[in-house]
Amino acid sequence: MKIKIWGGRFEEEMDTFFEDFSESVSFDYRLASYEVKASLVYAKALKKAGILNSEEYEKICQGLKEIEKEILEGSFKFEKTYEDVHMNIEKALFEKIGETAYKLHTGRSRNEQVVTDLRLYLIDEILKLKNLLLELMENLVLKAEENLEVVIPGFTHLQHAQPVLYSHWLMAYYEMFVLHFQRILDYEKRLKICPLGSSALAGCGFFLNREEISRDLGFLAPSKNSIFAVSSRDFVLELAFILSLIMLDISRIGEEIVIWMTLEFNFIELPDRFCTGSSIMPQKKNPDSAELLRAKCAVVIGNLLQLLTLIKNLPLSYNRDLQEDKPPIFQALDTTYKSLKMLSLLVQSIKVNQKRLKEILEKGHLLATELADYLVTKGIPFRKAHNLCGQIVLYAEKTNKKLSDLTLEEFKNFSPLIEEDVYQWLTIEHALKRREILGGTGPKSVEKEIRMAKEDINRWKTQLSN
Ligand code: ARG
Repeated sequence: MKIKIWGGRFEEEMDTFFEDFSESVSFDYRLASYEVKASLVYAKALKKAGILNSEEYEKICQGLKEIEKEILEGSFKFEKTYEDVHMNIEKALFEKIGETAYKLHTGRSRNEQVVTDLRLYLIDEILKLKNLLLELMENLVLKAEENLEVVIPGFTHLQHAQPVLYSHWLMAYYEMFVLHFQRILDYEKRLKICPLGSSALAGCGFFLNREEISRDLGFLAPSKNSIFAVSSRDFVLELAFILSLIMLDISRIGEEIVIWMTLEFNFIELPDRFCTGSSIMPQKKNPDSAELLRAKCAVVIGNLLQLLTLIKNLPLSYNRDLQEDKPPIFQALDTTYKSLKMLSLLVQSIKVNQKRLKEILEKGHLLATELADYLVTKGIPFRKAHNLCGQIVLYAEKTNKKLSDLTLEEFKNFSPLIEEDVYQWLTIEHALKRREILGGTGPKSVEKEIRMAKEDINRWKTQLSN
């Protein structure tokens, strides 16, 4: 009869189907090196509390370090019969050092182990995330810097609105990713809470120094309530939410790439290496990379929803349900990493079609707001100016002209206040220059924004490498 570690009060063996149904090692093996790390610190605390003698402590450390090496080399054998990563490692330690291994579990529960390991794991993962975010942010800024003279029609309602710098558009995404980056920094405060010493739910029955455990593991502070410590998964949910926000913005830029690459828009070109062809239509060049960026968001939002639903109505404290938090957060992280990387590659390689942009900027009366503003400078209240300008646009549409093609005579039919100087207002350059306001699309403002962004990125980079 296979005896489980907790098998003392059981009279029959575990059902083999249930055994397979309930195992988690097939996914929580990812926590293995953190399990070892936390165990080493726990062993030290047990020694300090007089529960392990020096010899036992040394033996446990040595065994754990051998296990750690095997994990890192990839030779450690995880077995489903030992259910989860914690029991797999405990079993391996027993095989290496015998009964002393079982002393490590004094006062300790898997309920606190799993949550400690997961927090430690995520601390390392978000470092990866921060680096990928920074890489993307840097690529956006470099692209913006490279294309400072490129103007695009800006859209609202996906209709031509006002001319803006292409760099300004790119920097909009940059700012979105800055906020994601800052969100992660803020999140870290709540992630770096150490549950170890909480035991199953009531707090450890042996007097361990929890402050020291927390410090040794690199946390900011120990948790203050043992029931909270083993029950809360806010730190998983919050990360899944941040990842969802990141993916939402990735889906928006993905969508824009797809649209901008259509024959109808034809604003940009992606290199062949990021596109695919059709198995039937020989002419096709499809932006699959961008389409997938748009789609992957669904995976991560799905993961967030899975997690929210998992926690809903769950009574305190630990419940086995909580085991199911790992697959979705792992998938959300993996998907976000890949998407960030893919987007970085696309941003680097996007080329704008300047000829096409020049043509399209002539269309759609992008300068109508300029004309209204001009009328304001002549003393006409804006609402009236807006209306008057609307009539002029309608006339231009009907006569198939651009606003700047209208003669002064034609203008004067709408308002005698319009003078020769109106034509200075009806150029793209003028429209852009008028927006040298903080956050505006004026070339100098955008240049400054880029300069500041580069400084911020460098500062964050040095912070990360320290
Ligand atoms: N594999 C479990 C999880 O991921 C570890 C904790 C199990 N605790 C228990 N009492 N069965 O949540």
